[in-house]
Amino acid sequence: MPLTILVGAQWGDEGKGRIVDLLAAKADIVARYNGGDNAGHTVTVGQQTFKLHLVPSGIIHTHTIGVMGSGMVINPATLLKEIETLRNAGIPVSPERLQISYAAHMITPAHRALDVAQEKSRGKQQIGTTGRGIGPAYTDKATRRGIRAQDMLDQESFADKIADHVGETNVLLQKLYGAPLLDPHKVAAEYAGYARQLTPYISDISNQVAVALASGKQILAEGAQGTLLDLDYGTYPFVTSSSTTASGALVGLGLGICPVEGVIGVTKSFQTRVGAGPFPTEVFGATAERLRGTGSNPWDEFGTTTGRPRRVGWLDGVLLRYATRINGLTELALTKLDVLSGFETLRICVAYQAGAKYYTDLPFGPADLTPYQPVYEDFPGWKMDLQGIRTWEKLPEQAKAYLLRIEELTGIPLRLVSVGPERAQVLEIGG
Ligand code: IMP
Repeated sequence: MPLTILVGAQWGDEGKGRIVDLLAAKADIVARYNGGDNAGHTVTVGQQTFKLHLVPSGIIHTHTIGVMGSGMVINPATLLKEIETLRNAGIPVSPERLQISYAAHMITPAHRALDVAQEKSRGKQQIGTTGRGIGPAYTDKATRRGIRAQDMLDQESFADKIADHVGETNVLLQKLYGAPLLDPHKVAAEYAGYARQLTPYISDISNQVAVALASGKQILAEGAQGTLLDLDYGTYPFVTSSSTTASGALVGLGLGICPVEGVIGVTKSFQTRVGAGPFPTEVFGATAERLRGTGSNPWDEFGTTTGRPRRVGWLDGVLLRYATRINGLTELALTKLDVLSGFETLRICVAYQAGAKYYTDLPFGPADLTPYQPVYEDFPGWKMDLQGIRTWEKLPEQAKAYLLRIEELTGIPLRLVSVGPERAQVLEIGG
């Protein structure tokens, strides 16, 4: 009865979409358990590149069923657009193939307006949110004023709820932020339309996944964002508002303590982050430009959701060790090794220094990283283009040394390494 959980081991954007795409080939159910359309998963299949924000990326494999758990916050307009885009690309999406938990929360334009207004009011303390209404939707959930997918089943009372919610949020928008107001009745009418279209997709995901597990089906839980953006265990307050870590998968899908076959952490071969917050190994100038790319390729380091250039830096082994522990990772998948080709020297942060003290584990988690200076280990680089390589043996010795050090720092095996954006450009290591 196996459940495999896949999580981002950094600040999101690790390339989870393409690893999911690979693993989903063997899954029966692919499940998203947290976040909303703040996420952006890029998957390239042949000539087609899909940029998915809400539906589980594994749905591109047409034998799978995709489920969206109670831990998610869903913008119905984005979801319907995504369903249409997939259908237009020849991927069938119907209520038989995609189900939404009745307990998932809905994002409205009022949440989005509040997100933007709150962010503006933070001034220099801005988090750099995606502006998708994520924080306000989870706030409403926690304060028990939220709107759930289940509410859509009674379309009349749903429209009233939406109008009330917009009316209440207008008070905040006006009184606290002096922001423009929304028309409650217009939004209610728009949402009544979404409810009509989405009602057939609403289901009891918790029960469905439990039944599937009991009958020996393979479930792949896809985390969105990354460990360091987790509401509790990330670089608070520069985090998202959901549980991005492996334990979030159980809560976000409504599962008890069930057999977990593995917890796969996806990391890039270097470090990136979007938005504000601490980043000890950040680099600038020519090195940053090399790592980031120019933006001419979909896989360059520019946000899938917002298009913002990502901050980039050397791989942070201290934070990766932390992510390994917090998630109980059993193995690693590393992406974008090919991007490191051509550097004279590569660096991995193996410890932090604060005054005369050295740390390989964080004494108080990652919330305040300002006291620490990264301690680097340098590695000779390699010139070879790795994009055509398909086996461990063919990798240059310098690349092997770099990867083996990552295994040593985390204490877990590296099972997958990607050397390019295509499905085939992934090395499977060991077994
Ligand atoms: P929010 O999730 O829109 O509230 O944004 C909170 C923080 O999480 C910001 O720093 C965002 O840039 C970051 N964030 C949210 N979703 C993602 C993601 O999918 N990838 C990378 N960063 C993200």
